[in-house]
Amino acid sequence: MTMKSSPLSSLLRPQLAQLDAYVPHAAPEGCVRMDANESPPLDAAITEAILRSADGVRLERYPDARATRLREAVASWARCAPSQLVLGTGSDEPIALLLSTLSQPKPGRARAVCLVPTPTFVMYRVSALTAGLDVEGVPLDERWDLDVDAMVAAIDRHDPNVLFLASPNNPTANRYSDDRVARVIDACRDRCLVVLDEAYAPFSGRDYADTMAPHPHVARLGTLSKIGLAALRVGWAILPELLAHEIDKARQPFNVDAVAQAMAAFALEAHTDALRANARAIAARRDALARELSSIDGLRVFESDANFLWMDVGRDAGPVFDALLAQGVLVRSFHRAGPRLASLLRVTVSTEAHHERLVTALREAVR
Ligand SMILES: Cc1ncc(COP(=O)(O)O)c(C=O)c1O
Repeated sequence: MTMKSSPLSSLLRPQLAQLDAYVPHAAPEGCVRMDANESPPLDAAITEAILRSADGVRLERYPDARATRLREAVASWARCAPSQLVLGTGSDEPIALLLSTLSQPKPGRARAVCLVPTPTFVMYRVSALTAGLDVEGVPLDERWDLDVDAMVAAIDRHDPNVLFLASPNNPTANRYSDDRVARVIDACRDRCLVVLDEAYAPFSGRDYADTMAPHPHVARLGTLSKIGLAALRVGWAILPELLAHEIDKARQPFNVDAVAQAMAAFALEAHTDALRANARAIAARRDALARELSSIDGLRVFESDANFLWMDVGRDAGPVFDALLAQGVLVRSFHRAGPRLASLLRVTVSTEAHHERLVTALREAVR
């Protein structure tokens, strides 16, 4: 029975009709996965040590509700105070928490608004609609940078509660220019929360830690998912302290499980340097792959500050995606995401061996 025919369908938020459940593309046996912006496995000895670090977990007990040890480890990794952190199941959960708590409509408005540049990470829209906010998008400029005039006009017109800036952005891979981010932050002063999503910052070598202090309306998001620890589902929001205190009231007390707390804390405490070095190595492989792909006729590879590449294949990306998959390489195509993205593919940086397979398959696919 579909919910349309259910007697309870009238109880559902109508915004759900605009959404589809997230279903990752099936990866056939033996297929190289370069579609989800994960990282290749960490060094085998480090992986082994991280797995063993959960040995003492008491399975009959609830986890530490404040995740005290992990909180300290994340604070030192992300350069913030432990009291500024709201920890979550990936950063997806803090995103949802921010939107459900900062959802009070402004005076004279029926619903609160979440503003995003487009294209960007899809979960902002999913979580905003689910929490009952309206979502307004402002197209990025021709270089996928912020169109500041359009952003400021949209801030004035829609008076949003929350604005998300993923920088580096997914799927466009670039870090927005600093002066543009600064102008958008200024335009939001005393009006809305600006959330700087740093999921891919480890690959750009820079974060926004120094931007928050002078701006009490700015937050940051971080995650372990992109640096080799996606299975743990550990992410966080770094917030002005008062806001962190309020938003933490809405968090489920045991949202980060005990195994994830133990392994993530250990990884950050014992292997910080290895995690950072691994991110730098991925960035170096990314640049080498970008050079190689740029030499293929008809491909345009955009500059990347992340662990993936954003490229224009100069034709409908759908058949190129299919041809790559037929050769055992799964990437992400945006050909269904509107005319502007019809020829664009997103490819996650991986191992040298995977890169060779991709390059061979892509040469073939765009011949
Ligand atoms: C920009 C951005 N933010 C946040 C996330 C969420 O990651 P996670 O929930 O795994 O921490 C992603 C995942 O792809 C992302 O691309």
